[in-house]
Amino acid sequence: MSEQNHELKVYAPPAALAAGAHVSGMAAYLKLAAEAEADYEGYWGRLAREFVSWKKPFTKVLDESNAPFFKWFEDGTLNVSYNCLDRNVERGLGDKTAIIFEADDGAVTKVSYAELLARTCRLANGLRSLGVKKGDRVVIYMSMGIEGVVAMQACARIGATHSVVFGGFSAQSLRDRIEDAGAVLVITADEQARGGKALPLKSIVDEALALGGCDSIRNVIVYQRTGGKVALNAPRDLWLHELTYDRPTTCEPEWVSAEHPLFLLYTSGSTGKPKGVQHSTGGYLLHAALTTKWTFDLKDDDVFWCTADIGWVTGHTYITYGPLACGGTEIVFEGVPTYPDAARFWKTIEKHKVTIFYTAPTAIRSLIKAAETNPATHPKHSDLSSLRILGSVGEPINPAAWEWYHANVGGGRCPIVDTWWQTETGGHMITPLPGATPLVPGSCTLPFPGITAAIVDELGEDVPNGQGGILVVKKPWPSMIRTIYGDPERFKKSYYPPELKGYYLAGDGASRDAERGYFTITGRIDDVLNVSGHRMGTMEIESALVAHTDLVAEAAVVGRPDDTTGEAICAFVVLKRSRPTGEEAKAIAKELRDWVAKEIGPIAKPKDIRFGDNLPKTRSGKIMRRLLRQVAKGEAVTQDISTLENPAILEQLAQTN
Ligand code: WT7
Repeated sequence: MSEQNHELKVYAPPAALAAGAHVSGMAAYLKLAAEAEADYEGYWGRLAREFVSWKKPFTKVLDESNAPFFKWFEDGTLNVSYNCLDRNVERGLGDKTAIIFEADDGAVTKVSYAELLARTCRLANGLRSLGVKKGDRVVIYMSMGIEGVVAMQACARIGATHSVVFGGFSAQSLRDRIEDAGAVLVITADEQARGGKALPLKSIVDEALALGGCDSIRNVIVYQRTGGKVALNAPRDLWLHELTYDRPTTCEPEWVSAEHPLFLLYTSGSTGKPKGVQHSTGGYLLHAALTTKWTFDLKDDDVFWCTADIGWVTGHTYITYGPLACGGTEIVFEGVPTYPDAARFWKTIEKHKVTIFYTAPTAIRSLIKAAETNPATHPKHSDLSSLRILGSVGEPINPAAWEWYHANVGGGRCPIVDTWWQTETGGHMITPLPGATPLVPGSCTLPFPGITAAIVDELGEDVPNGQGGILVVKKPWPSMIRTIYGDPERFKKSYYPPELKGYYLAGDGASRDAERGYFTITGRIDDVLNVSGHRMGTMEIESALVAHTDLVAEAAVVGRPDDTTGEAICAFVVLKRSRPTGEEAKAIAKELRDWVAKEIGPIAKPKDIRFGDNLPKTRSGKIMRRLLRQVAKGEAVTQDISTLENPAILEQLAQTN
């Protein structure tokens, strides 16, 4: 292990960047980490007073009396939209550009902090006029745009808990989330513009509501994005512009407790049902602002671009909340990286003189491929000299992609912050700080100051550096998940298993190198896949497949490594009819893929579908997934198959179609 480490390249922070950074040099990092270790509550309390404006100050930092339902800053009151908008206007930033909106077709719209505040207030007043109040749940089903950010901020302003559902999810998935959240209102758009095409949104909401179980919904608000024809079902449905155009541009914020739920965000777990991850107001906002400032070294004149969608947590923390809480200027991008061609990212960086760029490894890998096939899309044809910091998120970044990103996008001069975190953690947990941490490609390096990440064995015992184990967080932290909405028992079971000594179980495997103690994430240890940085539960996909009751008798889903998407979904299916081959197998595989897209969304479509007369099972009838993982990789099965009931099945399943 240590021999290997000596061969690793290490990139020290560029001297000029380090000198001017918010956290400047390793000594500064270590000092912060030591401050947190010496007085954990003192450290977080100090930062909460520095980074957040409180209506009523908190008197207690952390309440552990009902662990693992931790409470942070509970008796303090605040409003997130006040912190992101009014506060910046009051500081004299009213005319500063908050958002540069780059539409799918390249059209640019800029909004200042004062305008963003006015738009947020108008929608907040509109929502109040419809009776939406503190604690109500509002589902947002929109694509990327200023209006999505405004919708989230407007909910925060009136104390409504938002639940953004990614615009690529199907009517069925949307329905499930609306029902689970008991939402009173949906905010959507007529259509979304993506890659030169108009794709439906409002009609999918209609379909979702028609599926039943959504009686809690009173209204649907529709933002007119494309002007495409949609049905408005009066009095339930209202145009957003009609609801808001004559509303006042001021709106008294709802001052809520720091523990008030700011949002729910559904994510995949080990079982079939997605979990509504519930986040707080005060602790969440603190970590969103703090990590935006320190991890990206955000300064007043930066142009920050996070390419995520507001449908995922990255879009929540590093588009809607973090950069605005810091008074930053950010890009909101509607389109896709490959439209009109695969140089879109590079041209957009040049066009807006982006200084901080944060994207996912899967995007980088696919753009590397694109630049190889079509050299005209290589980043070298764009002027990327404005960039000073790069970021990576969502999945492990392989050293080859890291080196390419560093050399070709960052011109060899921009540190890459490889940020490990999760929907549940609210913000960065393990990450370099660009002016402090020496970088090793493929490693997310060290915990953010104050985060007690560690690697343990199945019994919660620390494992020595150089060995792999289970990634945990030993102490609660301000932006942590508070519960799974409506299912506190599942929250405890999923994240605080009794054998782990009260540590938070992340669900990832990791190791630390012997020399520096740097973390490397080795991937999920549960039945969760990471496909293009999207989190998918294998059980969720299996449930979708077996829901096709005419065709499917049984299904097992596993992941296999994929050069571009990180992992690919591989489904083993037993049909109710005889096992198909050739063209017929291809046709049925297509039907099942389309079925999964309809049940969950296109992101859940299996890449491979293999048919068998049966699945490999133990004598007690348990599906042997570890064997399926090997078959999916195209490897010969070398594992112990002595407990396998039907060994001949492996050969059949190895055949692709
Ligand atoms: C899972 C969380 C983090 C926001 C977007 C995804 C994987 C995330 C990294 C990274 C290696 C990473 C983990 C984690 N992951 N970032 N920098 N290096 N793996 O949020 O959908 O909740 O997924 O994504 O496996 O558990 P998410």
